[in-house]
Amino acid sequence: MENKKISSAVVKRLPRYYRYLSELLENGIDRISSQELSKKMKVTASQIRQDFNNFGGFGQQGYGYNVSFLHDEIGKILGLEHNYNVIIIGAGNLGQALANYSGFVKRGFRISGIFDINPMVVGKEINGIKVLPVENLEAFTREQPVHIAALTLPKDQASKIAGRLAELEVKAFWNFASTDLNLPEHVVVENVHLAESLMRLSYKLSEKNG
Ligand code: NAI
Repeated sequence: MENKKISSAVVKRLPRYYRYLSELLENGIDRISSQELSKKMKVTASQIRQDFNNFGGFGQQGYGYNVSFLHDEIGKILGLEHNYNVIIIGAGNLGQALANYSGFVKRGFRISGIFDINPMVVGKEINGIKVLPVENLEAFTREQPVHIAALTLPKDQASKIAGRLAELEVKAFWNFASTDLNLPEHVVVENVHLAESLMRLSYKLSEKNG
């Protein structure tokens, strides 16, 4: 496959394609036309064709798309074949909810460690993983690779921990703390803001209600 830059708008849509294709596979469907996929996903067929053309199309004239192939190829583009180790920093409400969600591992994200600063929380088991003291981060990252750190700690603590983890060669941060992280360029950050999503919903609701 050609290694060309994919627009962020397309990248944003890929996980959704991947999710629908996973569902099709689970339902034993091995072939789908762009029209059928379009109907299911409520995206125009031409948008789907355009999106898939970014990576060479995947489809065959008169056959449609091979679901398993498309699923695997999109998975590869998203890097899901890597089996990433994810650590969670902050084992409070959100950290525990993430640790307890079984859907991440299905997509290749294994929670390999959970860290907290609070002695009341350290030592507790969440989904079979013992919460470790945050002082153990250095030793932990020496023993096993950490690919992604989920930051679910107070925002005034997040930058410091992220900087420390970046020095330990952690290159990707899933940042839930509502603060912008100032990290070296080789590090990637995905900020998650549920409140922003809720505000967008509020906007849609106001629009509907005139
Ligand atoms: P929480 O108070 O239940 O949990 C925070 C945990 O972080 C506590 O267990 C605390 O001991 C630990 N902690 C504090 N300092 C630490 C440090 N230096 N190292 C390691 N652990 C440390 O809070 P909650 O509700 O789980 O929220 C966590 C963070 O996520 C907050 O920053 C909150 O604002 C944010 N949040 C973001 C959302 C989003 O959509 N982006 C949604 C909900 C929460």
